[in-house]
Amino acid sequence: MKAVILSGGSGQRLAPLTNTITKQLLPVANKPTLFHILDLIKEETPIKSICVVVSEEYGHKVKETLLNSEHAKYFEFDFVFQDKPLGLAHAVQITNMHMGEEQFLMFLGDILINKGELKAAYEQFIKNKPESLVLVKEVEDPRPYGIAEVTNGKVTKLVEKPQDPKSNLCLSGIYLFNPSIFYAIANIKPSYRGELEITDAVDFLIQQKNTVEYYIIKSWWFDVGTPENMLKGNEVLLNNISNTINSKLNNTVKIQGKVSIDQNVIIEDSEIVGPVIIAKNAHIKGCKIGPYVSLGESVTLKNTKVENSIIRENSRVKNFTRIISNSVLGKNVELALEDNTQAVSGNSKKVKVILGDDTKCTSL
Ligand code: TTP
Repeated sequence: MKAVILSGGSGQRLAPLTNTITKQLLPVANKPTLFHILDLIKEETPIKSICVVVSEEYGHKVKETLLNSEHAKYFEFDFVFQDKPLGLAHAVQITNMHMGEEQFLMFLGDILINKGELKAAYEQFIKNKPESLVLVKEVEDPRPYGIAEVTNGKVTKLVEKPQDPKSNLCLSGIYLFNPSIFYAIANIKPSYRGELEITDAVDFLIQQKNTVEYYIIKSWWFDVGTPENMLKGNEVLLNNISNTINSKLNNTVKIQGKVSIDQNVIIEDSEIVGPVIIAKNAHIKGCKIGPYVSLGESVTLKNTKVENSIIRENSRVKNFTRIISNSVLGKNVELALEDNTQAVSGNSKKVKVILGDDTKCTSL
């Protein structure tokens, strides 16, 4: 069996973070979503051959990142460039030559899912031999999603963004297919939004009397396509970190809860409230960090409070009197805003910021 990971798309809901990088490479808990997905495929399936669909704009960066990673020692990668984001089924269709006659796993490149679920779904697909298997998640309001209508353990219909949903099982973006899906895609037309929809292709399989099964994800699942969801993903991943401290810390540092601190990290006069992950060469002075904070390599924070946030490599924040909360800062961001009224009253308020790479925001 092979896998197709969809790593194209435009990622507009994550702008300005995606003005300089594709969303699948944005780090969550200090690791790109694409790497979290590859870790899962490696641990939970026998798949070793992966076809990655990439955009014209960022494809070369994705290719370079994967080929220079540890994953290139384990997986064999093929890269297929998609000219325009013409839909999930279009992205699958252009991998046809690489997939040949093999069954395959399709995984959207912006999905995070807890361990164990992929393995269980894969085993169900191998055991029951349906034509296709879709992984679904129960949600309270299914209207913004594609949903699966089901009867007697089988999918009877897939519907995109239903006004009047007949099921609360939303499509997770993870599917298992036989090569017959290529025939199905060849038989569908673009939807009202001009995209070839994978839901229409799976629906075609059902109309042709093929069996499509479903697997309900029991644990957490996120599509990290918005800053809010990236931060939710960051939270659940940080809940699972192991306590590791690889730098020498002095007694001016107070640590509570689980922390993962890489090498050459300097922390002075600060409080760290786990779960928190800090990459190498970070420098923290006079700060309160956590909970649920991921700091990238060489981040510098001085006299700053941060909670529930992701700060990417080489960013620097100093003397920031508000609490940085539910925020995502890109690479090389500089933030130094002294709000004297707040400092005098000592009454820090929270601020939420989403800042793209290289943003400079300093007081005059
Ligand atoms: P989406 O999140 O549906 O689309 P998007 O990435 O363009 O994001 P936005 O709506 O914020 O602009 O895509 C889901 C996944 O599928 C994501 O990993 C990108 C990928 N994708 C492709 O590879 N090709 C495509 O044609 C589309 C639509 C998505």
